[in-house]
Amino acid sequence: MRPEHAWFSEARLGMFVHWGLYSLAARHEWVMSREQIPPEDYERYLRYFEIDRYDPRSWARAAKVAGMRYAVLTTKHHDGFCLFDSALTDYSVMSTPYGRDALAKFVDAFRGEGLRVGFYHSLLDWHHPDFPVDAHHPLRDHPAVAELNASRSMERYRDYLHGQVRELLTGYGRIDYLFFDFSYPGRGYRDLPGKGASDWGSVELLAMVRELQPDIIVNDRLDLPGDLVTPEQYQPSGPMVGADGEPLVWEACQTLNGSWGYDRDNRDDKPVELLVRMLVDGVSKGGNLLLNVGPTGRGELDPSARQALAGLGEWMDRHGRSVHGAGPSVFEAPADCRYTQRGDRLYLHVFSWPFGHLHLPGLAGRVAYAQLLDDASEIGLEEIAPHQQAQNVRPGGQPAGTLTLRLPTRQPAVAVPVIELFLR
Ligand code: GLC
Repeated sequence: MRPEHAWFSEARLGMFVHWGLYSLAARHEWVMSREQIPPEDYERYLRYFEIDRYDPRSWARAAKVAGMRYAVLTTKHHDGFCLFDSALTDYSVMSTPYGRDALAKFVDAFRGEGLRVGFYHSLLDWHHPDFPVDAHHPLRDHPAVAELNASRSMERYRDYLHGQVRELLTGYGRIDYLFFDFSYPGRGYRDLPGKGASDWGSVELLAMVRELQPDIIVNDRLDLPGDLVTPEQYQPSGPMVGADGEPLVWEACQTLNGSWGYDRDNRDDKPVELLVRMLVDGVSKGGNLLLNVGPTGRGELDPSARQALAGLGEWMDRHGRSVHGAGPSVFEAPADCRYTQRGDRLYLHVFSWPFGHLHLPGLAGRVAYAQLLDDASEIGLEEIAPHQQAQNVRPGGQPAGTLTLRLPTRQPAVAVPVIELFLR
C-alpha cells in the first residue's frame, strides 16, 4: 500500500451514505430502474426534496461514536441527481426547495469531526439525455429504444462525467477516497451493449483524478485496477489476493438491511452482534468495512440506523484498539473465533463462548499475560501436557504448543467478547 494511503488500513471502519431523490421514494436506490420510471416522471421528486432536518454534523457525530474514521457520500447516484452545485447541470440539489450545496455542508461537517472524506460517484446516469440506454436503464424496454439511442452521444456524456469529476476534485478541498460505481462491460440486454473503460474514458479519467488529487484512493470499478478491491454485500472467505497471489487492499461495503438507499418498509436489519462479527472477520483478513446508512427524505438517520450505529459504538468504545490499526495475525484462530493483531497485542474475538476452556494452537510460551478487553480482568493461562490423562475434573492433554485459556462461565455482556493477549 502506498504510504499516503496508510490511514486507510489504520481506519478499518467507515460510513457509506446513500442519499438522494430515491430517499423520497423510500423503496431502494434503484427504484427508477426497477419500476422503469421515465426521467421526466422521476424528476417530480425534485420539488419535494426539502430535507428540512438535514444536519450532517449529527451524522458525523454518530459515525464518530460508532468508531468510524472516514465517510463516503453519494455525490450522484445512477438516477443522475447531484447533491452538489454543478455548473454542468440543473438536475441537482440547487433546483430543489433546499437550494444549497448539500455536499459542501457534508464535507465541512465530517472534516469538523475529524473524519476523512470520500466521494461516491456514479458512472451511470439515467437522467442525462446523452447517456445511451442499456440493460440497467429505466427506458430499456422502450419500444423505440434504437431511435432513442440514435441521438445520444456517449462522447458528450463522457465530457459531462469527466467535467463533474473535475468539479468534485477541485471544489471541496482534499478528498481522501473516490468510489466510482460501476462498470458492466459485455453485459448486454436485447441489442444494448454493456459499458466499460472505453465508454467512460477510464484511463484519461483516472489520470485526471491522480493529477488533481495525487494522494487520493481510487476504487476498482472503472473497469481498471484500482488502489483496492471492493467486495459488496458478502464476506470474503479469506484475505483477498490478486492473480499474482499478492495480497490486495480491500474494503467490504455492506448495508444495514440489504438496501443502500432508505427503504421504509424493509425490516431486514442486521443485529449489532452480526455487524461487529462482520467488522472483526474483515479485519482478521486484512480488510476494511464501509458500513452504509440511507438517510430519509427529511435528511436524518432513521431510528434503526441510529440504533445500529450506537450499538456498534458501544462495542467499539471498549474494543476499538482490536480494530483500528489492527490486521491479520500469523496465528490460526480456534473454531468460531477470529484473531486481529496490532504489534505485540493479539486479540482473540470469541464468536461463540465455550464452557470453561479455550485452546489456542501454537501459542504455548508466546503469551506473557491475558485479559478480557472490556474490563481488563485477568484470564488464566495454562499449558496442558500432551500426555496428561483425563480424570474427573482434570481435562486430558492438548497437542504440543497449545496454550489453554481458563474462561469465566458467563460470557461478558458485550456484542463480541475479546481476549487481549500480550505476546512475549
Ligand atoms: C451496488 C448497488 C448500488 C450501490 C453500490 C454500492 O452497485 O447497485 O446501488 O450504490 O452497490 O457499492
